[in-house]
Amino acid sequence: MPEDLIPELRKAIKEERLCRVYDHYLGGIREFPTIYLVNNKVIGKWFASKRYAKNEYKIGRFLLENGVHVPEMYQMVPPDYRFSLFKKAVNDSEGVIDNWFILMQRLQGRHIRNLFKGKKKEVAVRQFKTEILKVLDLGILPIDCANSENSLFDIYQGALYLLDFEMWKKRGKKSDIEKIRREIMDIDGYEGFEDFVTI
Ligand SMILES: Nc1ncnc2c1ncn2[C@@H]1O[C@H](COP(=O)(O)OP(=O)(O)OP(=O)(O)O)[C@@H](O)[C@H]1O
Ligand SMILES: [Mg+2]
Repeated sequence: MPEDLIPELRKAIKEERLCRVYDHYLGGIREFPTIYLVNNKVIGKWFASKRYAKNEYKIGRFLLENGVHVPEMYQMVPPDYRFSLFKKAVNDSEGVIDNWFILMQRLQGRHIRNLFKGKKKEVAVRQFKTEILKVLDLGILPIDCANSENSLFDIYQGALYLLDFEMWKKRGKKSDIEKIRREIMDIDGYEGFEDFVTI
């Protein structure tokens, strides 16, 4: 990602260009307040702290290097130090970066629960299991992965991608990892996935 996308991120913040998806369950548009559309291929995700941003960035890169389907993490973006004497004050007419962000690859996809019933949904669930098992094999504890909004199925590529690693633990406790492994192995088709997501 050679170009400087920070001005574009500011613009997206200022214009409140947020990630929106159609949600069949709600019967309407769902908006994600922390995900900005920088351009067609890149999103900017807002984090409540540097610690969470760093955790997501590091784990995301590690997972990609190890062949897990995740978006590519491009860059961590620090907040503007608006009151510092040493840094240039940011003009309010530009979008203000008020906390840490990550610029990452934008995926084109749907949440599993929003896929139409049938083969695609089953394929997506199977891939979800495969990807989470790869994560567990790397010794990582995927906290909150059971939330069905934390993965996206690319319908054109037919591939499922995992999202949202800010709370994941790089070195998870063995007993916790084995507990999730058992639960994941037990998922049989979409019905099993729905049960899993309620845990
Ligand atoms: N790289 C991406 N490409 C496309 N859409 C994304 C990407 N990352 C996140 N999204 C969309 O934004 C939603 C929220 O993302 P994510 O879970 O990472 O954010 P969050 O701030 O942790 O939200 P929450 O607190 O609700 O879990 C996802 O369900 C997905 O629809
Ligand atoms: Mg999430």
